[in-house]
Amino acid sequence: MTHQAPHPSPHCDAVARRLLTASAVRSYDPRTEIDWDAPLAPDLWFWPPERLTLYGTPLWDRMDHRQRVTLSRHEAAHMVRMAQWFELATIRLFARYLMARDGLDARAFYALTEMGDETRHITMFGRLLDRLDCRIHPMPAHIRLPFPLAAACFQDITLFASALIFEEVLDRYQREAMRDERLQPLVRSVCRLHVSEEARHVSFARAELCDAVRRASRGHLAFNRSFTALLASYTVPALVHPDRFGDLGLDPRQARHQARHNPHHRDTLLWAGEKLIAFLTEVDLIKGPQHPLWRHCGLMA
Ligand SMILES: [Fe+2]
Ligand SMILES: [Fe+2]
Repeated sequence: MTHQAPHPSPHCDAVARRLLTASAVRSYDPRTEIDWDAPLAPDLWFWPPERLTLYGTPLWDRMDHRQRVTLSRHEAAHMVRMAQWFELATIRLFARYLMARDGLDARAFYALTEMGDETRHITMFGRLLDRLDCRIHPMPAHIRLPFPLAAACFQDITLFASALIFEEVLDRYQREAMRDERLQPLVRSVCRLHVSEEARHVSFARAELCDAVRRASRGHLAFNRSFTALLASYTVPALVHPDRFGDLGLDPRQARHQARHNPHHRDTLLWAGEKLIAFLTEVDLIKGPQHPLWRHCGLMA
């Protein structure tokens, strides 16, 4: 499958120009914007308790406050580690997208700007992971190993849909975390910086995705609906099911079982996917036949 150079689009061009201006005005350097040396408060949460996988389960009821805070620390570290990997994947996909283009226009310049943002974010997440000091788990092999091969099949729709899946879901969690005064100031600062720059990435991906879908033939669109849903069913669970229970001294099988059947966690996933599912349905990228795969990843009821 070949990668196609994008079709001219005055709307996408205007969006890219607006985002380039916004990036020039409001881009942040995490090295200086964030107080990396601020001490961590022993009783503050690292992630909103209601968003933790075990919240409200029998295991949760048996934990004291300190153990619950430790769980929040590990689940925050999981999100951050996954974000790092997905942003590295985005950079790789964007580089391939740009290399397939004949010339570099405003849309390409914005894609390059976004790659620059992600480079800073990945470094910022690395520093946060150092402070969180939790064991680093690799991306599961069933995602990591086939990624290079799958990436070669990505075209415009898949590229921007995959970026949007990860960005919209993470955005939902981080917008809430940055406002939550019960959380560690360091975590809130990282979320605030990330949300502010990712809002531009979401706008870019939405505009490009709309354009790509509008131009797609029926066959191409049908293929991409299925491919996107398959992609989500493989990758989203890795992001939204933190499984660090062994590191916390919990029985991993019991904890995993309670997390998977936790109605609070199920509601959290639906909440996390709300905006994404509404948008992808609106642009005709989700139809009835894809619902089972979207349900499988937990983002759709
Ligand atoms: Fe990012
Ligand atoms: Fe991004």
